Amino acid sequence: MKIEGNTVLITGGGTGIGFALADALVKAGNEVIICGRRESVLKEAKQKLPQLHIKVCDVSVERQRKALVSWISSNFLNFNMLINNAGIQRMIDFTSGESNRYTDEDEIDINLKAPVRLCELFVPLLMKQKQAAIVNVSSGLGFCPIAVMPVYCATKAAMHSFTVSVRHQLRKTSVKVFEIIPPIVDTDLDKGGRDERQQEERGIPPSEVAVTAMKGLAKDEYEIAVGEAEGLKMGALKNPDELFQHMNQW
Ligand SMILES: NC(=O)c1ccc[n+]([C@@H]2O[C@H](COP(=O)([O-])OP(=O)(O)OC[C@H]3O[C@@H](n4cnc5c(N)ncnc54)[C@H](OP(=O)(O)O)[C@@H]3O)[C@@H](O)[C@H]2O)c1
Repeated sequence: MKIEGNTVLITGGGTGIGFALADALVKAGNEVIICGRRESVLKEAKQKLPQLHIKVCDVSVERQRKALVSWISSNFLNFNMLINNAGIQRMIDFTSGESNRYTDEDEIDINLKAPVRLCELFVPLLMKQKQAAIVNVSSGLGFCPIAVMPVYCATKAAMHSFTVSVRHQLRKTSVKVFEIIPPIVDTDLDKGGRDERQQEERGIPPSEVAVTAMKGLAKDEYEIAVGEAEGLKMGALKNPDELFQHMNQW
């Protein structure tokens, strides 16, 4: 996939990995649109990177997804790359009765349903372009779960599976389908959970994910496992039980 001259939408592009990708893509000569729920965060991102186009959108709401697709199709005729990056991560304890996950933000809606629907809605537009791509951000935890985040890990495993199928379905079209598989990255994703678990490992900076992702996209490496995520992916294939025990020593 060429990594310059694209028109790219990054969901959740105002912070963390999404913003690092936005930064790398703008610097490589792409037109970049970012979306997210918090306007203040998007405006802050635009202050840092004035070339960005910003749009408030909650990708878990169907009406807002459709409005986003229609805004992009009317305003960005060369739109050719969708990066499904927006995500949340929650610790959920199934021994404590019903959690608040249905009244709070829902990981299944944001991490899985939203990217699936955005793929469905955007594929007709993407297929009109000579070169196009869908890039789904999954996680090393999609290959081996940590049990304190059961729903998160399940959504990421599902995203991996979905990405493999969509790549196969679109193989004879102009749309290439990539997966970025980050390891632990130092972002706000876990909202204090790392402190609660007294987890010292903060992970790599988001810019490292962006550097590896750009190289992978340029080489048509469809599964871009970053850093230690490669070990998780391989370990899960070779010895899943041992890896699971190793990652869940509590
Ligand atoms: N950090 C890690 O260790 C790690 C590891 C593996 C994979 N990942 C994946 O990387 C992706 C990016 O996460 P991150 O680590 O960069 O965390 P982050 O900084 O918290 O970024 C998540 C972004 O998603 C946006 N978002 C969340 N819900 C949304 C919704 N309903 N609609 C639109 N935007 C929404 C957030 O903005 P608003 O709150 O303003 O909407 C935020 O900008 C996620 O898919 C995550 O699962 C992260």
